[in-house]
Amino acid sequence: MQHLAIIMDGNGRWAEEQGFSRIDGHRRGAVAVRLITTRVRELGIPYLTLFSFSTENWRRPDGEVAGLMDLLCTYCDEETPTLLEQGIRLNVIGGLRRFPQSTAAAVERAIKATAHCAGMTLNLALDYGGRDDILRAVRAVASRVKEGQLEIQDIDEALFGSFLSTAGMPDPDLLLRTSGEQRLSNFLLWQLSYSELLFIDRWWPDMTASDIDDAVGVYIGRKRRFGCTAQQMTPNP
Ligand code: IPE
Ligand code: IPE
Ligand code: MG
Repeated sequence: MQHLAIIMDGNGRWAEEQGFSRIDGHRRGAVAVRLITTRVRELGIPYLTLFSFSTENWRRPDGEVAGLMDLLCTYCDEETPTLLEQGIRLNVIGGLRRFPQSTAAAVERAIKATAHCAGMTLNLALDYGGRDDILRAVRAVASRVKEGQLEIQDIDEALFGSFLSTAGMPDPDLLLRTSGEQRLSNFLLWQLSYSELLFIDRWWPDMTASDIDDAVGVYIGRKRRFGCTAQQMTPNP
């Protein structure tokens, strides 16, 4: 597997079940991020993308949004030494423009500090929306055409993909969503077109390394065909 994408869902309901605040749930979610990232790194999967804050999550109560921003700030500062130790490069898809300055600065510090790491890329999807990703690419392509740098007939899937936030990365092989919800919630709409989907009935803060092993096991057992016949295909790498 080259790329695992995860919709980390269920922090709020985990907290509610325990009688904790939603922010406590997100705090425990950050602990799970550490655990799962380490396992994915150990498994040698080169790309991990975590849906951390969506373009729609701004609709949440101000206090929860502020709490998530603080948590992200703390995560970046505290996690940088571990990321360096494990050779993990931090990258952001989406944007930091709408984030508080202190949060954006903490994320940028961590990106800069880990820029040389080649063991794995950890993409945090922040202020990320799949439609927004596609629209930005459309605008960038359109402006190239307008300026005469690109011919319309040269716009193909590869070229378009190179304008998306995941440029240069393979599409996710597996999309995992926790909490039992079975929807994409505007995540990586273009990139997930042929990904295997796995929805598991577990709150994100309850995720363990062995859940990742199980998910990878399920993936290996899937038959991907990409439109071909079963006989044309080799087992999943
Ligand atoms: C996922 O957990 C974290 C973010 C979306 C930031 P939720 O906060 O969505 O948890 P539930 O879905 O309310 O349980
Ligand atoms: C998706 O989860 C976004 C993230 C995990 C960051 P949500 O909890 O926001 O999704 P919906 O609202 O249930 O679709
Ligand atoms: Mg949710």
